[in-house]
Amino acid sequence: MAKKKLSVTKFGYFDVPGREYVITSPWTPAPWINYLGLEGMLCGMVSNTAGGVTWFQDPLERRVTRYIQIGCNKDRPGRWLYVRDNDTGRFWSPSYQPVTRARPAAYECRHGLGYTRIRSTYAGIASEMLFFIPLGEHVEVQRVVLRNKTDRERHLSLFSYREFVNDSGFQDLTNIQYSGHLAHVDLDAEDNRILYVMTRQDGWRPLPFFAVSEPVSGFETKCDVFIGDGSIENPQAVREGKTTDTLVGDDTAVGVLKSDLTLAPGQEKVVHYILGVAPKPTKDEAKAVITRWLGDDRKVLAALEELKAHAVGLVSALQVETPDEYASVMVNTWNAYQCWINFQFSRSISGYATGLGRSMGTRDSLQDLLGYMHMAPGRARQRILELMGAVHLQNGGCQHQYSALTKTGMGEGGFSDDHLWAVLAVCAYVKETSDLSILDEAFAYTDNRDLVEDLYHHLLRAIQYSYNDRGAHGIPRLRAADWNDTIGGGRNDEVSESVLVGIMLVKMAKEMIRLTEISGRQALKVRHAGRRVPVTDYLEAVIRDLTKAVNARAWVREGWYARGTDKKGRWFGVPSRAEGKIFLEPQPWSVMAGVASRDRAIKAMDNVYAKLFTKHGIQILQPGCTVAPSGNFTVFPRGAKENAGIFCHPNPWAVCAETMLGRGARALEYYRAILPPAASEPDPVQYCAEPYVYGQQRYGGEHREFGKCAGTWLTGTAAWNYVAVTQYILGVRPDWDGLVVDPCIPADWKGFRAVRRFRGATYDVKVSNPAGVEKGVKSVRVDGKPVPGNVLPAFGDGRVHRVTVVMG
Ligand code: GLC
Repeated sequence: MAKKKLSVTKFGYFDVPGREYVITSPWTPAPWINYLGLEGMLCGMVSNTAGGVTWFQDPLERRVTRYIQIGCNKDRPGRWLYVRDNDTGRFWSPSYQPVTRARPAAYECRHGLGYTRIRSTYAGIASEMLFFIPLGEHVEVQRVVLRNKTDRERHLSLFSYREFVNDSGFQDLTNIQYSGHLAHVDLDAEDNRILYVMTRQDGWRPLPFFAVSEPVSGFETKCDVFIGDGSIENPQAVREGKTTDTLVGDDTAVGVLKSDLTLAPGQEKVVHYILGVAPKPTKDEAKAVITRWLGDDRKVLAALEELKAHAVGLVSALQVETPDEYASVMVNTWNAYQCWINFQFSRSISGYATGLGRSMGTRDSLQDLLGYMHMAPGRARQRILELMGAVHLQNGGCQHQYSALTKTGMGEGGFSDDHLWAVLAVCAYVKETSDLSILDEAFAYTDNRDLVEDLYHHLLRAIQYSYNDRGAHGIPRLRAADWNDTIGGGRNDEVSESVLVGIMLVKMAKEMIRLTEISGRQALKVRHAGRRVPVTDYLEAVIRDLTKAVNARAWVREGWYARGTDKKGRWFGVPSRAEGKIFLEPQPWSVMAGVASRDRAIKAMDNVYAKLFTKHGIQILQPGCTVAPSGNFTVFPRGAKENAGIFCHPNPWAVCAETMLGRGARALEYYRAILPPAASEPDPVQYCAEPYVYGQQRYGGEHREFGKCAGTWLTGTAAWNYVAVTQYILGVRPDWDGLVVDPCIPADWKGFRAVRRFRGATYDVKVSNPAGVEKGVKSVRVDGKPVPGNVLPAFGDGRVHRVTVVMG
């Protein structure tokens, strides 16, 4: 049985069976955030002090509340509540923010899967605030419970606070001479517990509303009037316990509803605040929704249980018991949850992404699918088709971004890698499901709506694009950038080349051969070297040419692969350079793609260990640069981000590569170096970020904040670590013919268990390691009977199959 409290620090711990992270201090080194609304409609973020934002479908176009992620006002405003003791005039906030001078006597925040609960005590009043968005609903519930712990009657006033945006998230912040004049809130004509946020009178966006279950004794909708002579920490209305009942018609619209409560000693009271949107923007529609929810506590609690069951159902697609409890808690709950959040929100909004700029990145979303696939393959399928339909160009390349709201591509093409990730995502889907029909789905190219081809041909064009766009060394051009967004000569640069893309192309061509074979497309012919040849011959030629070019031109004597060439055709990521002598990305990919011979693979990966690895993770390059050999990454100081930071996203590539080389101890060492609970526990202040989700980067050894983590939640780090630990360390990996069990673990691991849903059956896999090896499967039994090899067939019978695997 898993321990209840895991990784206890002065800021919190994992409640393992509860699938919650418990934050025990409001003074975390950064806002520690959670997401609400997990099915992509009404959604939100909430911090451990109730800072956060709500939006409907798209945080750029359809933002409901205002939120700032940077500066001294960061993590503000939020879903705030002021509680005023009318006998003493004292007031406080149950979530600590914004009345921070009133320090709670007790505090606890529990982030769960799609909900957050903050409990605190101040002046003898215990409070609990629960935030969540019921499944399939357009309402966000704030359920408040207040309990009088004293032996005297208490007379309290509650003041809610929500700050509404006036237009799209972008217009709201950048075009105030326009958006400021849209602020407009109406009170319901019959029920003064309900406010309608009427900003924009043209019905362009869903109608936001805000309501409270208790009778209302006053309201404010004008921020300035609410604050009066004070501040958000000390608003005049709360200080004086009085409202002016003003309706806003300009500037800053807020939802302050005042309710008065009397609590006898020991008495408890439940109050609901409901924030929501009516997609059909009429007050009648809004009121119909409010009436269904307001004050029905049984319905609220049932909706929470329904949400929890749904969330647990999703992450339960794979559950493990390993000797490493930190790995287990991440796989079983948090890493899976993060993958799911990434699927939902890609790069749109987090504590680090404002939600005002880019939304879904093409390469990002395609990689995110790798960690999500097994939880909801049907939705992954839909995403692949929608995304590719939105961004794929007829030359085989992709637009770099797309909007999940409008399902259209955004931004220019010219990136050398975007399209290739599609091959990986589609193969992951087919391996997970065996559903080949996805390849037959036909759709047009975004720049030529008359050209309609099936998905297989789209993927083929992706390969052809990279193969045809090779530079002087026979290696694909780097163009605007490859996976590393900060290198590249520009979309029109014909000189720079990317060794990473060259290597990736080999991997993708190999995958394409299998896709071709299993979907029976071998008869297909394509043009190659002036002739029409069978498509598999063409793909073999791609593999051969690229493997040869990379090994002949990009291998350096010191034992690693160069990163590419610059705009003048000079190599970088090579020892002859004064800076940036070695880059991480091509080394693990050379192993993953099978481009490197075993000898070269070992040398390259040993150089990763010797030259790039630190106790906080693997740095992306060394030494950090003062002059970027390509691109613009020297905007960052040495040790930050792509300039020699510990870029976490490619770290798990090294984990995968090490398992392919059979080095389980080193794979686990890499994995643990950035595993959030393990990485943050020794010094959570220095680490700074949430210990339950991965960040995009940690600062590298040359940086003054070495080890600090940032960019949490929306990052490819989540999917790739999930893949690395589950499919490569534990080695439970969907493949074309079934579920492979191919662990690569430290020799001192005695074994582990993994229970995984796969193609309509459940595999309860127990692995033992009596001989203390790192890799190798000696025997496999399924339901007591020995089976040859280590590929478990797809039973598809809805039953649980017991699998025992002995390593040796
Ligand atoms: C950011 C981008 C991602 C890119 C990475 C490396 O995480 O979202 O697309 O691959 O940086 O530059």
